[in-house]
Amino acid sequence: MILVFLGPPGAGKGTQAKKLAEEKGFVHISTGDLLREAVQKGTPLGRKAKEYMDRGELVPDELIIALIEEVFPQHGKVIFDGFPRTVAQAKALDEMLQKRGLKVEYVFLFDVPDEVVIERLSGRRIDPKTGKVYHIKYNPPPPGVEVIQREDDKPEVIKKRLEVYRKQTAPLIEYYERKNILKKLDATKPIDEVYKEILEVIGNGN
Ligand code: AP5
Repeated sequence: MILVFLGPPGAGKGTQAKKLAEEKGFVHISTGDLLREAVQKGTPLGRKAKEYMDRGELVPDELIIALIEEVFPQHGKVIFDGFPRTVAQAKALDEMLQKRGLKVEYVFLFDVPDEVVIERLSGRRIDPKTGKVYHIKYNPPPPGVEVIQREDDKPEVIKKRLEVYRKQTAPLIEYYERKNILKKLDATKPIDEVYKEILEVIGNGN
């Protein structure tokens, strides 16, 4: 089963994808995580991507599509989290899947208003050792765990990311609605309730 998680920054896509990977055996492909890893390692991709990410802009489609080609799993259940983010990326994904005789089964749209995005992103903290994601209010890190804030979770960059989402990524809602595979989630609900809603649609995800 191939799933796509679509929605504004901070909607909870990564949180749900990690839970499904742990509990249901999905391969979790987050372009954001892969890019941050490339930046940290200082690879050619990382050096090119960093300036876009710091500004809250999208990394060019050709770099992202090449990255996905590289990590595309040979088999298994897959969640694409934060990819595709433009119509060009969505078309490239359709082609890659078609070549393999596969298709996207469901696209979950994580629906949340801007105020919630701002509250979630400004309170988000990461454990750099494990990559675990916390929130100072909704999912606080255990005592003793040292956490950091993501560079792009600063207020000016959050605003830019929301603008970019509306302009470049939101058109995908119609793209997937037309294919009849879009499932809207009320992502303002607590983490476990959103998770339950996803399971109701996918069953065991096999
Ligand atoms: P990326 O890392 O993909 O960022 P994003 O889409 O902005 O998404 P986030 O990771 O910020 O949020 P999320 O929805 O995963 O929320 P989370 O679960 O962490 O991309 C970063 C950058 O990389 C982009 O700006 C771009 O430059 C580049 N990039 C990446 N992919 C690209 C692509 N395909 N094309 C071009 N460029 C690309 O949750 C947020 C917080 O809320 C956490 O603290 C969490 O604990 C909390 N939380 C989660 N769910 C709930 C809940 N239900 N209730 C209360 N709190 C919750």
